[in-house]
Amino acid sequence: MKSSFAIDARALCYSASLRGAGGSSAGGSSGSVDIVRGVSVQLRAGEQVALTGVSGAGKTSLLMLFAGLERADRGSLRVFGTDIMRLSEAQRTAFRRDNFGVVFQGFYLLDNLTALENAALALDFAGAKDARTRARDALAEVGLAHRQEHYPWQLSGGEQQRVALARACALRPKILLADEPTGNLDKGTGEKVADTMFSLASRIDACLLLVTHNPALAERCSRRLEMSDGRIVADRKQTNHAYKKSAHKKGAHKKQRADRPRP
Ligand SMILES: Nc1ncnc2c1ncn2[C@@H]1O[C@H](COP(=O)(O)OP(=O)(O)OP(=O)(O)O)[C@@H](O)[C@H]1O
Ligand SMILES: [Mg+2]
Repeated sequence: MKSSFAIDARALCYSASLRGAGGSSAGGSSGSVDIVRGVSVQLRAGEQVALTGVSGAGKTSLLMLFAGLERADRGSLRVFGTDIMRLSEAQRTAFRRDNFGVVFQGFYLLDNLTALENAALALDFAGAKDARTRARDALAEVGLAHRQEHYPWQLSGGEQQRVALARACALRPKILLADEPTGNLDKGTGEKVADTMFSLASRIDACLLLVTHNPALAERCSRRLEMSDGRIVADRKQTNHAYKKSAHKKGAHKKQRADRPRP
């Protein structure tokens, strides 16, 4: 059965074992540390949600669980109705490719590939026949059509993050996870990258989950979650958020999406 929730997490728990180089336990009697402690949260398709909290609160770990990059110990996690904890490693990889785009603070572009080749990576892995054309479109969407033949080291930090955004969104993910995407950028550049990210997420109608330490950026989301010590301790709507969906834009995007072949 298809769920209306993009992400539906119930009592999600995740711990990591602490082992020293010699194999000795360093985490007390149990040798493990609880990182995510019973998180229940539902995110809707198209929602733009900020995830805040002090360093070490568990934000990145929660994102990794949602994307299936880490496996929870307990609880349930459904993504558009699919119980991803029951998927095999290979199934999770395919599911992640089809449903998620992920952007990190550190860009993680491949240095020996051009902007176009970096933007095409997910499309290539998905076996898309028209990967180059779609990667070119994705770069144009982030304002980098003129830099496609340039290598990451020839681009500024803001431009590199926009290539990473193009790569994350080239397959039109239904969920975009962004872990401090402007954390390495100066204020002005960060704002421009954030503008691109919000408008891109809106255009492709993705559920955006944005981890940030920047209050101004968090305010731009329609909802804000706060984590502390592995738990979600606040969940509130934000009425003055900058993100407004225009019916016209949404309709235009849907048409564009229908025209676009999928791999
Ligand atoms: N593999 C691991 N083994 C042991 N502890 C871990 C592991 N991964 C994360 N942790 C611990 O889990 C806690 C949460 O880490 P996490 O990276 O999710 O925090 P965060 O909220 O993203 O912090 P920041 O804002 O600094 O990025 C931290 O105390 C961290 O040290
Ligand atoms: Mg983090």
